[in-house]
Amino acid sequence: MACSSVVKLNAASSSWTAGQKSVVNQRPGSASRFPARRVSVVRAGSYTDELIKTAKSIASPGRGILAIDESNATCGKRLDSIGLDNTETNRQAYRQLLLTTPGLGEYISGAILFEETLYQSTTDGKKFVDCLSDQNIVPGIKVDKGLVPLPGSNNESWCQGLDGLASRSAEYYKQGARFAKWRTVVSIPCGPSALAVKEAAWGLARYAAISQDNGLVPIVEPEILLDGDHPIERTLEVAERVWSEVFYYLAENNVVFEGILLKPSMVTPGAEHKEKASPDTVANYTLTMLRRRVPPAVPGIMFLSGGQSEAEATLNLNAMNQTPNPWHVSFSYARALQNTVLKTWQGRPENIDAAQQSLLIRAKANSLAQLGKYSAQGESDEAKKGMFVKGYTY
Ligand code: 13P
Repeated sequence: MACSSVVKLNAASSSWTAGQKSVVNQRPGSASRFPARRVSVVRAGSYTDELIKTAKSIASPGRGILAIDESNATCGKRLDSIGLDNTETNRQAYRQLLLTTPGLGEYISGAILFEETLYQSTTDGKKFVDCLSDQNIVPGIKVDKGLVPLPGSNNESWCQGLDGLASRSAEYYKQGARFAKWRTVVSIPCGPSALAVKEAAWGLARYAAISQDNGLVPIVEPEILLDGDHPIERTLEVAERVWSEVFYYLAENNVVFEGILLKPSMVTPGAEHKEKASPDTVANYTLTMLRRRVPPAVPGIMFLSGGQSEAEATLNLNAMNQTPNPWHVSFSYARALQNTVLKTWQGRPENIDAAQQSLLIRAKANSLAQLGKYSAQGESDEAKKGMFVKGYTY
């Protein structure tokens, strides 16, 4: 981030009186001549207007994100579930099926890719990023380098990838990416410890600032894992704590809130809790948490599915869109968009059309849920199967 970047006074949130000198050129964090008065600032980076436009286009009515950013190892697990080897050719064939689905852009506004896919083409030689742009889908890129154990914590983890992130992001932008994703996790059964929450929040904030500095809209994703037997109230408590720290550090890092997107977990009971929560209850708890923690300046909330069944993830999203929200409330699902597609495809060329149709069915269902107009009638049994895996790693 250039030190010379101008810091603009945010007139709406300051209480400025005549006679005080402007702090327009003061660096954020430097000592003020008026130490008792807090002045809100927004960074005016060179990409700010573009970031806001990109975020708005991803958060457009009736559309959400297709997440296909599985690392090669995780994509291997998907392929293995239908008896395919984890080769580059098979990964390309699977991603080609997904990204060339005719009509996908009606329901999907962004696609998160793994680095391999960002630089890959179809078997006919068309770049995947061009397939997406042709359908008005914004290409995105997973930029984190995965989770490793966090020393000094209660068996928790932290997310790597800040070293070299600025130069990698600049390269991804050149290749056509316009948004980024960084997923870190918080485990309720492991505590979570204050250290793990702080580390997750700080890492997300540094990543968000670096992404914005390089033209990529950051998706901020502190995934609160479904694991555990705790009640929904406990998830609410942890989610509020995590999001308050995330926003504290986002603000400290001068991240432009209008140019970010969030990817939260829904507030549900732990997967092993004795009672399930209805979509109305999940919506109520989740929206309560978001209203308490997320400023309306944020354009979009794009939920992860986290191991819920396809139908459950859609029903919960639909319940959250029954009344107007200050932000676009939508989806950024991986498992809850891909499960039936994989089962239908089975790696067979003759099944590609049917598999693409099943992707469209899920994408359309979630599009309707974004508009609050989904009805679960006619959902297949496959779509109702839960996908929770204890201790799941991405
Ligand atoms: P799901 O939880 O929807 O599988 O995806 C999580 C994710 O972060 C993918 O980008």
